[in-house]
Amino acid sequence: MIDTERIRRDFHILESGIIYMDTAATSLTPEPVLDAMLEYYRGYNANVGRGVHHLTRIATDEYEEARKKVAEFIGARAHELVFTRNTTEGINLVASGLRTRLHKGDKVVISLLEHHSNLLPWLRAKSDLGIDIEVVKPSGRMRELELSVSDFEAAIDEHTKLVALTHVSNAIGSILPVGEIAKLCHANDALLLVDAAQSVPHLEVDVKELGCDFLAFSGHKMLAPTGIGGLYIREELMPEIEPLMVGGGAVETASFDDYRLKGANERFESGTPDISGAIGLGAAVDYLTAIGLDNVRLTEEKLTEELIEGLQSIPGVEVYGYGTSAADRGKRIGTVSFNLAGKSPDEVALRLDNEGSIIVRSGHHCCIPLMNYLGIEGTVRASLYLYNTESEVNRLLELVERIATQPSPS
Ligand code: ALA
Repeated sequence: MIDTERIRRDFHILESGIIYMDTAATSLTPEPVLDAMLEYYRGYNANVGRGVHHLTRIATDEYEEARKKVAEFIGARAHELVFTRNTTEGINLVASGLRTRLHKGDKVVISLLEHHSNLLPWLRAKSDLGIDIEVVKPSGRMRELELSVSDFEAAIDEHTKLVALTHVSNAIGSILPVGEIAKLCHANDALLLVDAAQSVPHLEVDVKELGCDFLAFSGHKMLAPTGIGGLYIREELMPEIEPLMVGGGAVETASFDDYRLKGANERFESGTPDISGAIGLGAAVDYLTAIGLDNVRLTEEKLTEELIEGLQSIPGVEVYGYGTSAADRGKRIGTVSFNLAGKSPDEVALRLDNEGSIIVRSGHHCCIPLMNYLGIEGTVRASLYLYNTESEVNRLLELVERIATQPSPS
């Protein structure tokens, strides 16, 4: 277990009395991360990988040290980690970088649970290249929206060139069996891209153990600032992936007729990068490592069970995805989506904010096709992290109960 009270002192925004349960949208940022970024601007503000002066050498060392830490955090080697702006950019980089390998009739497999960021790039490839998209939907435990390996077995075949899959659903918090699905991909010579935006902050992720070819994630959901993220690309694939952008920093040599790009991560990082953001992400990794992701997960699991059981005991509340039965244990993170009968998600979220300073997201969570499948406009989503407490969960439950029993304003 973690010392939550000690941790909360690192998040000054909490002093205002808010109850922050919107980590799935973006996490809060602790002081050590803010300090690391300010230290860059105050102490060694310079560009990286350019020139020889002492400031650029310090900045470059710190930037590359951050890359090493972040890569290690996901079980990768430093040169396999490309700094991006966010998960969306990482997925777009892969979708556009693979365009010479994807042809009419090739299949990309995705799931019902994908965020728009792991849907739109493939829809664009469909219209530009004529690829087919197969969407895997639950066939077994429909109520839990369980996607099992056998659902993917039916979809992944000799036409499948790529499986692009979320590791953890941003909308309902379920963990998908990506390690098992990787084996199906290997057996069918298909590549696997993992959208790890919601898993890297909460679960121990190792790209080599998972067996994926690409893994994209965002810093701002794991205590780092907005505008920095990471994309793991399996080393052997790097030369075959076209960068999203070309320009300064990525070039081995150039003439007025031609250019040759550098190798590994460098070919994907044209232009001045988000240096302080990368350093902040490195500090966030240090912060999470010192606490231990296993400890974060234990705390989150306990609070999540209390939250789900509490919500399910309130008449008129429906919780989506996995519950708290023994069969469901370990299959979700602390992102809990629910609705109150007769109330819109926005109405509930606004009342939680106005009456309890409780910050939750409402709406479709960038998963309109999933909401359409469920036949709902959206949900209220409370997403927990290492700074949440039992008393905050109880406060949320009390208020949800009050809102559930009061009529909506006409
Ligand atoms: N993907 C983020 C969310 O789920 C923005 O809220």
